[in-house]
Amino acid sequence: MDKKVYELLNDQINKELYSAYLYLDMANYLGDMGLDGFAHWYELQAGEEQEHALKIRKYLIENDQKVELLAIAKPDKVFDGILSVLEAGYEHEQYVTSLINDIYDAAMSVKDWRTAQFLDWFVKEQLEEEESARDLITKYNLFAKDSAGLYELNKELGKR
Ligand code: FEO
Repeated sequence: MDKKVYELLNDQINKELYSAYLYLDMANYLGDMGLDGFAHWYELQAGEEQEHALKIRKYLIENDQKVELLAIAKPDKVFDGILSVLEAGYEHEQYVTSLINDIYDAAMSVKDWRTAQFLDWFVKEQLEEEESARDLITKYNLFAKDSAGLYELNKELGKR
């Protein structure tokens, strides 16, 4: 495997695990506010990010590459209310999409079609991840402006 493609993939394992950390941090923040449904939504999201990391780890191993686990950074976002969490989640997913696109670019530039094909799953996944993050913002803005609406949305997210 091309060195640059390898490094980007290996680093993406770390980025996905950082995403899990970030979503757990969001779950903690929302849970502390008493919003157990919102917290549950982000806990599940954290689980998905761990699965993404494992998928990439498996792909590297299948390709006879050595996985190097790097230190996971402390989540550094400062939240100021519910909407700030939802917006940070959407921004973060847009950032992850850009990372996946960068790996895709690197793979294409060395004709590593196998990695490009592997990344197709992530390209589609990022569409869903961005959409669900955006959907939360829309729902919050539409329905959660009063406490009754917030109560209902919290209940709905708890069923994810
Ligand atoms: Fe692994 Fe939310 O992207």
